[in-house]
Amino acid sequence: MFALKTVCVDALGESVSSIGFGCASLGGRVGARRGTEALERAYHAGITWYDVAPSYGDGMAESIWGQFASKKRGSVYVCTKVGMRPSDTSAAMRLLKPLARASLAVFPGIQPRLSGMRPEPFKVPLSAELIKTSIDDSLRRLRTDYIDVLALHRPTRKEVVREDIIRALERIVQDGKARAISIAGNIDVGIDGLDESLPYRLLQIANNPLEPNLQRSKKSARSVTFVTYGSFSTLGPLVASIGAKKEILNGLYEMGYRGDLTEIAAAFVVDYALATNSAGVTLFSMFRKDHLGFNLRRLTRLPALHQLNRISVEISNELRQNRPDDRRLE
Ligand SMILES: NC(=O)c1ccc[n+]([C@@H]2O[C@H](COP(=O)([O-])OP(=O)(O)OC[C@H]3O[C@@H](n4cnc5c(N)ncnc54)[C@H](OP(=O)(O)O)[C@@H]3O)[C@@H](O)[C@H]2O)c1
Repeated sequence: MFALKTVCVDALGESVSSIGFGCASLGGRVGARRGTEALERAYHAGITWYDVAPSYGDGMAESIWGQFASKKRGSVYVCTKVGMRPSDTSAAMRLLKPLARASLAVFPGIQPRLSGMRPEPFKVPLSAELIKTSIDDSLRRLRTDYIDVLALHRPTRKEVVREDIIRALERIVQDGKARAISIAGNIDVGIDGLDESLPYRLLQIANNPLEPNLQRSKKSARSVTFVTYGSFSTLGPLVASIGAKKEILNGLYEMGYRGDLTEIAAAFVVDYALATNSAGVTLFSMFRKDHLGFNLRRLTRLPALHQLNRISVEISNELRQNRPDDRRLE
């Protein structure tokens, strides 16, 4: 086993694994037993950064993570959030969950349909009172007396600069309940939050070949740690564009990529995410053992950033040319 790369999070003054475990499905798509096994596997592979939220896993992710981390709290880092709530799961839905998971194990193709049936979490307006009660609830579920990072979950532009919210966040840090504050959400809101006068020292944003958000946000002079996600949402369009344009596939072959189109696209999205955010933390959902192994192995053989960017631009151009709306505008 190789040593997992670490990165320094300036706001904490400590080094964490450069790959983080995204727990959005913990307790929802993935049940507690399988989820805990996956967290343990990741921990033993060197992953020290975990991302949860009160809304994740139909409201179960924090409690399951808390149980997992209870005997290793000093050697793991956790980011949780405030601002989204899980929707109320009916008793009938709760009873159906194990059945849905068992069906998913046998027929993985039904996942999009099952995801469509899951009640969506919803945004709640931020206030000083909500921040105070939400972090206390999170601390209880996470079985800890401090959170490494508290993120505003999909805040609005107004919320990130509001005086009462900023004071409440500063109070949380002063009280030792959270060590650092972050924004997790939309890139434009995140960029607003990078102003030196504001308390946000980490930014959690989507970043992938089709949403190269890091390129935009790195213009800020402020020392900020980027936590990125959203790699595999692009897999379908990427497979289509690689298959449609020979030059893109040849370029990937020249860079050493091998396998069928899906394998090549999966390797490319992981490499892109890791190479573009080499100083920050890249989140992946990795409940499957083979996904964890695959994503960690990519760290050891990353192609040069300029090569990845070149292919990424070609893929975006290919997709833009073939988008029906764009053709109408031409
Ligand atoms: N701030 C926000 O608003 C926000 C929004 C979205 C996500 N997030 C955070 O980011 C985390 C990651 O979310 P994401 O949307 O970016 O998910 P992702 O990492 O793109 O994973 C999505 C799916 O891809 C699968 N996968 C992982 N590695 C793979 C591989 N090597 N080959 C093929 N499939 C693979 C995962 O499977 P398995 O899990 O079954 O292994 C999962 O089903 C979330 O859990 C959450 O913590 C934050």
